[in-house]
Amino acid sequence: MSRQIIVGNWKMNGTSRDSLALVQALVAGVPASAADVVVCPPFTQLALLTDTLKPSTIALGAQDCHKDSAGAHTGDISAPMLTDLGVSYVVLGHSERRQEHGELDETVREKTVAAIKAGLTPIVCIGETEDQRESGDHFDILGWQIKGSLPDGFAGILAYEPIWAIGTGRAATTEEIAETMTFLREELVRQFGEAGKNIKILYGGSVNDKNAASILSITDVAGALVGGASLKAEAFLSIISAAS
Ligand code: G3P
Repeated sequence: MSRQIIVGNWKMNGTSRDSLALVQALVAGVPASAADVVVCPPFTQLALLTDTLKPSTIALGAQDCHKDSAGAHTGDISAPMLTDLGVSYVVLGHSERRQEHGELDETVREKTVAAIKAGLTPIVCIGETEDQRESGDHFDILGWQIKGSLPDGFAGILAYEPIWAIGTGRAATTEEIAETMTFLREELVRQFGEAGKNIKILYGGSVNDKNAASILSITDVAGALVGGASLKAEAFLSIISAAS
């Protein structure tokens, strides 16, 4: 089995000084045999962190990219601009971008194509709202999001982040995650055939140093996408140690 992946999504947090201190603590604390580790700081801090990360195995990720490689898109960042900085991963279709920036599955799919073309590994997020889970529609929603957001020949990572678990301190239960992983795997195989068996699936939503070990031991969970707890070196390092 391949190593698990622990991804820290810092969202819109931290000054340059905070980020540098956090990365220095992570570089010093990550054991050599640990899982694959990725940190996704805000765009403005990517260049600042590359030198500090260079001697380590920690990879750099971004939180979004544009679907075009260049052009008249004020305020946007393209996938080739990210690879140019030494970025290897990009989080796409996060529910916060879907909600706050009106990103549709189609937008996410186009961005995913652009990321792959530029040599980035996309981490494509899907997840249902609390209402959708309570009404029992969550598997339909997740199935549509997979169909709409992942392009043919998808070469990337899928992240399942139930929206109701993000930043709430209420992670999905191990039963909910296990059941959803089974559904997602079936759906990936339905859509991609044999290749769907190898697409890694991360769980995200209130992962912390207390629940990481049980979440990461669920069958088919290939790692975690961590928000709040990735901003504290000690908590993030302990999540990394819980991975295999
Ligand atoms: O992308 C990670 C994120 O949405 C989960 O956030 O703070 O619940 O770990 P958090």
